[in-house]
Amino acid sequence: MAKIRAAITGVQGHVPEYVLTNERLEKIVDTNDEWIVSRTGIKERRILKGEEKGTSHMAEQAILGLLEKTNTKAEEIDLIIVATVTPDFVFPATANVVADMVGAKNAFGYDISAACSGFLYALTTGSQFIETGKHKKVVVVGADKMSSIVNYEDRTTCILFGDGAAAVMLEPTEDEIGVIDSVLKSDGAGQPYLHQKAGGSRRPASAETVAKNEHTLYQEGSTVFKFAVTNMADVSAEIMKRNNLTGDDVAWLVPHQANKRIIDATARRMEVDASKVMLNIQKYGNTTAATIPLCLWDYESQLKKGDNLVLAAFGAGFTWGATYIKWAYDPK
Ligand SMILES: CC(C)(COP(=O)(O)OP(=O)(O)OC[C@H]1O[C@@H](n2cnc3c(N)ncnc32)[C@H](O)[C@@H]1OP(=O)(O)O)[C@@H](O)C(=O)NCCC(=O)NCCS
Repeated sequence: MAKIRAAITGVQGHVPEYVLTNERLEKIVDTNDEWIVSRTGIKERRILKGEEKGTSHMAEQAILGLLEKTNTKAEEIDLIIVATVTPDFVFPATANVVADMVGAKNAFGYDISAACSGFLYALTTGSQFIETGKHKKVVVVGADKMSSIVNYEDRTTCILFGDGAAAVMLEPTEDEIGVIDSVLKSDGAGQPYLHQKAGGSRRPASAETVAKNEHTLYQEGSTVFKFAVTNMADVSAEIMKRNNLTGDDVAWLVPHQANKRIIDATARRMEVDASKVMLNIQKYGNTTAATIPLCLWDYESQLKKGDNLVLAAFGAGFTWGATYIKWAYDPK
């Protein structure tokens, strides 16, 4: 019997309307467009406005668009996995909230917390549900409302992040396409360099933690940068070696969009030409779990059936990984 693989049969993104440009940030903190663009590649990012709108809102919009695009009824979905570090609530899971919002009455769901590598962790586990033969339609979402945990008084972090969501549909195939291989890694020793200090069980929210802004994202940027450059390139090289891929065989590198300089270093190590590197950091910034599926969405019209894609990410945890997929459909 042929092996069942998980094919991505559709992708849909959602970004909020409000655009926070570098010029606007210049009015909020001591920074400038030239510094931000030369150090990160970011020009602008999207911010979700509106009372009571959380990550689930963006995930809902992405899934509704995906259902329409793939001609799928919400009741047909077996499983929804949401990768996020900005869930609507500590509990219940955002996946449960979103399933209800889109009417996925027959689905079960859960969240994955792996920061910027969340989409790769979720894509890999989602694929494995398909590969067992038991599940036929799995929706994997990367969604983050980073503006809810960014400190807009900290110029070293507030320039980096934005809000967004994107979802893919996974379905079974017996062809040599779909999710072929993944290498996923983590090292909790990286925790001190990128985390949220308070609001969890170790240091619950209090008047003091709020006064100190400890419910917002803390990062030691240059340390994270060094680990990101090395580990994202290492894991990308590893997945290429395991699958006998050269830079020429790779149609697209789909890198997590944290910093253009990290992306360039990864592409150089893989010997993949810059013209084959997906890039949208200039317009969305770092949307954490959403960056990779948002790239797939932006570049969907250029992807052809059989294209070799290497997806690579690095994030808080530390977590990192690379996934090799063969794209499953031609532009529609
Ligand atoms: C955050 C980051 C862009 C900073 O770039 P960097 O080249 O490391 O810059 P540094 O932190 O060394 O700061 C250099 C100088 O710029 C200043 N600076 C920092 N942020 C600034 C800003 N927004 N505007 C202007 N100047 C800024 C610093 O204060 C420092 O000044 P000093 O030399 O007088 O002390 C970079 O470290 C980075 O991208 N890190 C990884 C981020 C990441 O990937 N995070 C998510 C993980 S997925």
